[in-house]
Amino acid sequence: MVTLNPSSPHPFPEAEDDALKKIMAGLPLIRASYRIGLEEVCERIELLRQSLDQDRDYNPIEHVKSRLKTPESIISKVHRRGYAWTLDSIRDNVRDIAGIRIACSFVSDIYQVSALLQKQPDILLVEYKDYIRTPKPNGYQSLHLILQVPVALSGHQEKVFVEVQIRTIAMDFWASLEHKIYYKYDKAVPQHLKDELKKAADTVAQLDNKMERIHQEMQQVKNSGSPSRP
Ligand code: GTP
Ligand code: MG
Repeated sequence: MVTLNPSSPHPFPEAEDDALKKIMAGLPLIRASYRIGLEEVCERIELLRQSLDQDRDYNPIEHVKSRLKTPESIISKVHRRGYAWTLDSIRDNVRDIAGIRIACSFVSDIYQVSALLQKQPDILLVEYKDYIRTPKPNGYQSLHLILQVPVALSGHQEKVFVEVQIRTIAMDFWASLEHKIYYKYDKAVPQHLKDELKKAADTVAQLDNKMERIHQEMQQVKNSGSPSRP
């Protein structure tokens, strides 16, 4: 984590002092518009959850978490990725300033929630990464959407990006442990732990498949009105 202290030199040699000052001065306003976008998408998710609960007596969403990237974390990303040191470049390139994580019980729920979100009026899908069909080499699984939503500010309208990560509870459990280990070892994770994590990710995928099959069978029973006898 980078902390900026106005009395000491900043840790980004490629950034001009003036450019960094302008960014630090402009970020509160940028973050305010992303906060509105974040709240808008969170509200839509809550409404989806309520309407699914009412119409189908079934809730695919287990829990939702959201966060706004801190100014320090935003400029660390500009540095890491070599983006231009301007507010416009931050608006264009840093697409996870507003982030939402949705945990579902079953894999099919993930795709259902993703489709319902994309159908929302005024919400535009700009990026779709399916790390469930194609997991990352370390075993990471999740569906990532970058959405664009309009936000009304005093006098004008702006469009902001919102990153939505949708995963099962099991994938979420794995990702949070992997994240802790990654930071504990400052990104240099010993090979045996990497191997164990990969095995755990395979187990997660097997469990999610099994749970999905059981869930589908139960849905059929529910739809037909009576349990099928062997
Ligand atoms: P970032 O610069 O981290 O935003 O990555 P990116 O722009 O290449 O996008 P990607 O879709 O790969 O990852 C976005 C986010 O997904 C990350 O910030 C994490 O929250 C999550 N994520 C991606 N890969 C992993 C992983 O291997 N482990 C864990 N725990 N989380 C991951
Ligand atoms: Mg990110």
